[in-house]
Amino acid sequence: MMDLSSLFPPDVVIVKASNEMWSTPLCKEEELLIEGAVEKRQKEFRAGRNAAHAALSQLNAPPGPLLRGEKRQPAWPAGFLGSISHCRERCVAVCTKKGELLSLGIDVEPLSPLSKGIARYIDTPEEIQFKLQHETLPARLIFSAKESLYKCYYPLIGRYFGFQSVTLNFDLSRQRFQFTPTSACKIHFPENLIFHGRYQIADHHLYTSCFLTQTGTPLPQANSMG
Ligand SMILES: CC(C)(COP(=O)(O)OP(=O)(O)OC[C@H]1O[C@@H](n2cnc3c(N)ncnc32)[C@H](O)[C@@H]1OP(=O)(O)O)[C@@H](O)C(=O)NCCC(=O)NCCS
Repeated sequence: MMDLSSLFPPDVVIVKASNEMWSTPLCKEEELLIEGAVEKRQKEFRAGRNAAHAALSQLNAPPGPLLRGEKRQPAWPAGFLGSISHCRERCVAVCTKKGELLSLGIDVEPLSPLSKGIARYIDTPEEIQFKLQHETLPARLIFSAKESLYKCYYPLIGRYFGFQSVTLNFDLSRQRFQFTPTSACKIHFPENLIFHGRYQIADHHLYTSCFLTQTGTPLPQANSMG
């Protein structure tokens, strides 16, 4: 069984979609959200929603459809928060009760590189330098970390922010990341918010996570997390 527990504090439930979850139909309200979509989209949406329901049920959340907000973000039940990611062959959902964690983001990517054309829009000049110095860096690490950061912060601010808004800083020995806003950044990151970025390679894929706490809130220390 794949262990992704190093990505989040212990009170976050992580569910990798099982094979059945990719095809198990959802409730009527959720199926309406993918009516007319291509098969690939229907499958990934079902995988994400079924995994999210499994995670919410472990947290004893009230049953009910998991609808979506105006920018596709899942509308988590009151008192809960979470995140979903899928790529062609993997899907994962993470959920927790609202409390010390203010928001969560997750992303899963294959280990193959992004096309050079796309990477050009993602990486800042500092990140390009960093990649040149660290050739063994997982190919999509910068892209994936920025996706996780976006999914974590968007639900709180309701604003899109581009890939060039931040430069990531990595602690490769601990598989963690932080970021510094760039001069192109139009988003405010208040000083009392602490973003925790982590990553892990598992199951032939790259997983990145981002979660948010406030200063003065210690992280739960029930396992080996820092
Ligand atoms: C929203 C976005 C992250 C989704 O990416 P994707 O390629 O579809 O990849 P994933 O499968 O990993 O994620 C999709 C899931 O993210 C969630 N999601 C989508 N939009 C979201 C948002 N605005 N906020 C939080 N979660 C969101 C949904 O659950 C979605 O799955 P679903 O539609 O099946 O429910 C991407 O389209 C995007 O806009 N990226 C820009 C990120 C960015 O600018 N980053 C820069 C930060 S420095």
